[in-house]
Amino acid sequence: MTHWIHVFYETLEGLGYTHAIHPTQVHMVIGLLVGALIFALLALRWKTSSLHVSARHCFLLAAVFAFPAILTGLMDWQYFLSGIWFSTIQGKLALSGLLLILLGTGCVLGRKGRGNAPGMLLIYLFCFLTVGALGYLGGSLVQRGISAEPARNHAEGRAIFESNCAGCHPGGGNVSDPEKPVLGSPMLRNFEVFENWLRDPAPPMPAYPPEDLSREEVRKLHEYLVHGWNSS
Ligand code: HEC
Repeated sequence: MTHWIHVFYETLEGLGYTHAIHPTQVHMVIGLLVGALIFALLALRWKTSSLHVSARHCFLLAAVFAFPAILTGLMDWQYFLSGIWFSTIQGKLALSGLLLILLGTGCVLGRKGRGNAPGMLLIYLFCFLTVGALGYLGGSLVQRGISAEPARNHAEGRAIFESNCAGCHPGGGNVSDPEKPVLGSPMLRNFEVFENWLRDPAPPMPAYPPEDLSREEVRKLHEYLVHGWNSS
């Protein structure tokens, strides 16, 4: 995880804000795209050009707000879900890509007062369906928390822990220094701190260079220790 993301969320925490920020941004895009579709349908019904213009303006604003929505989605994913690559995230990224293409196409297609170009209604409709699907996946992420694929992720993390760490840290404790257990350690507070510790720990704990534990493995291990210990 990049450092600035950390600084950003820690600053927010300092101000008393501890939630994800993506959910505060997505409503803009969803609401405006719903508006665009509704105005376009009304325009079709009543053949009023001002309704086309309303649809177009909603659509353009949605395109603008898509950027903070996607950016904050990526940031939340890195910070709150340790950037873990599970299928819900893959789906969300693919749909975001599709949405950007649709928005871009719509911006071009409807320019110069051609808000009523024939293809536009389809673009509005597909955008509407895409944000619906994005919202659905987002909801399932929030509902199931981190554990969109709990069994597999945590099983891998646990296997890594068992084969590398459990000898000295049985049960998440610490045989040589019971004052410094793994569970509850400040070194787990976020992925970056954890990775730095594993690459360069205080002796006598051995270091784990990337050849021994890849970044992906360290992520799984961190994910398991923070969220999977009790649930798997
Ligand atoms: C050979 C024994 C050994 C192995 C193997 C080992 N550790 Fe440690 N670990 C230690 C010792 C000793 C300390 C205390 C170091 C110190 O004095 O700060 C420690 C400290 C830690 C801490 C910090 C505790 C704290 O709050 O200061 C974490 C987190 C940790 N280990 C995680 C791991 C993980 C994850 C693995 C496997 C990838 C691992 N360790 C493998 C011996 C080991």
